[in-house]
Amino acid sequence: MRILGIETSCDETAASVIEANSKDKQTKIISNLIASSLPLHSKTGGIIPEVAAREQIKYMIPVINNALKNASSTPGVEHQKMIDAIAVTVGPGLIGSLLVGVEAAKTLSYVWKKPIIPVNHLIGHVYANFIKASREQNEIEFPALVLIVSGGHTDLVLMKNHGNLKLIGGTLDDAAGEAFDKIARLLNLSYPGGPAIENAAKKGNENTFNFPRPMINSRNFDFSFSGLKAAVLREVQKMKKIDQKTVSNISASVQKAIIDVLIDKTLKAAENYKAKSILISGGVSANELLRKSLEIKSYDLRIKFFAPEKFLCTDNAAMIATAAFFNYNPIHWSKINVNPELYFK
Ligand code: KG4
Ligand code: ZN
Repeated sequence: MRILGIETSCDETAASVIEANSKDKQTKIISNLIASSLPLHSKTGGIIPEVAAREQIKYMIPVINNALKNASSTPGVEHQKMIDAIAVTVGPGLIGSLLVGVEAAKTLSYVWKKPIIPVNHLIGHVYANFIKASREQNEIEFPALVLIVSGGHTDLVLMKNHGNLKLIGGTLDDAAGEAFDKIARLLNLSYPGGPAIENAAKKGNENTFNFPRPMINSRNFDFSFSGLKAAVLREVQKMKKIDQKTVSNISASVQKAIIDVLIDKTLKAAENYKAKSILISGGVSANELLRKSLEIKSYDLRIKFFAPEKFLCTDNAAMIATAAFFNYNPIHWSKINVNPELYFK
């Protein structure tokens, strides 16, 4: 079956067609498009929801159209004949942005008479690990421990099987990606902050500043990053002028502090729940130090490690279509609503 995925939960406008085989549970990407309004947000150092949604209204139809065109091997074949179902992100996210994707999906479902599957964006991130482009999904063994690290979330999820996901820990304040973004701003680095800090850190020494590792020794699987941000602010305020070398050193030290906490908690949770696999997902999982360090430490514990290809770590529609395939539960278009606060059950 071919599923058209639509994702507009934050600033991206994304559409993708995936091909899924029910027999061997393989999914592969046929087309995958993302339009981003990032340059506009770089100017303001963050996303202004209204600005994002207005851009998405402009991009939505061309992005869907091009995703369908790219997926069609025979020109002239009507798009709706090629598609068996539509998957769309219904939350969590920015309400105006979510509405753009959901209304487009509902309209297509009504006009084409195709089933529509509502998808939780966070579960979408988990399923980036199940796309054939990224790996052979048969290798993932359950129970799996999933670390979702994005701009809005830092969640530890126990996945016992498809459709059986349980939240075991989350952030009490800022998400890891949000910490990267806010600290980048303190350092006058560009938005989004994660890649900017990763880049600056390459020329820095991670041992220069001993920033706090919040909650690393707490007995639960929750996170907190606002104290780390405050510690960086205090350090920056002490300096009269901050040169490139210092920016690099702070970046390397901050990156190490965030990653130390993420890895420590993930491994503790994996051991506690006797996980056979560790999966990471979300924008921050594109971070090379996080990927490499967690991979090595997982193998030390004889736990399999999986990370999506980097282009599937950040928001995309292929992961949404894939999540819909593995949790195939269509509902009538008229019953689909956005839910900006959607979380795990
Ligand atoms: O998953 P995502 O694209 O959107 C949300 O659902 O939030 O994640 C975006 C977040 C941003 O905070 C960004 O700074 C962070 O992911 N990010 C990174 C890297 N690439 C993106 N953080 C650290 N290292 C990276 N290479
Ligand atoms: Zn996301």
